[in-house]
Amino acid sequence: MKEKFSKNRLVLIGFRGAGKTTVGKELASLLNWRYVSTDAGIEEKSGMLIADFVNKNGWEAFRRIETGIIEGLSEQTEVVIDCGGGVVENERNLKNLQQDTLVVWVDAELSDIYQRLADAGDRPLLNQSDLNEDIKSNYQRRKPQYHKYSNLIVNSSRQSLHEICENILQYLGVKNYKDE
Ligand code: S3P
Repeated sequence: MKEKFSKNRLVLIGFRGAGKTTVGKELASLLNWRYVSTDAGIEEKSGMLIADFVNKNGWEAFRRIETGIIEGLSEQTEVVIDCGGGVVENERNLKNLQQDTLVVWVDAELSDIYQRLADAGDRPLLNQSDLNEDIKSNYQRRKPQYHKYSNLIVNSSRQSLHEICENILQYLGVKNYKDE
């Protein structure tokens, strides 16, 4: 483990549909760390699916509960934290997570993001009525934030899952992980 990432944890950020969950689960298994999803934490705390929660309470309420969940994770170690795509909307979130921690931006081509979100159909639109517009405008708006907070960028459209995991583990400076 490299000194600057001494916190023994990994934080994944990036747009919805970019592949954070797949990468996060695989890395947690390779590192033998826990996998934690902030979205799952929100669903557990609210007792509702995210789409239902947002339809009922709106995005502001969602962001508040998200920030609370992240605060609760700020001291945890030996963990891969899979953040919802909007984690960068509130700067407190990354401040709570990034100290001595490798933050990876899991990115993808917008066409792949569109395809994945259109196929899944379970994520509420952010602020546009059309999925393509919603992705394009919010991705452009958030891109500088993903850049600003990440130490490393991987891309699920251009790299295989194996390559992404190798890349991250190498950057993290972990040598003896369980390789399948
Ligand atoms: C959101 C992304 C979602 C979820 C919620 C809001 C966003 O998480 O937190 O729908 O603002 O981009 P995923 O990135 O895991 O889909």
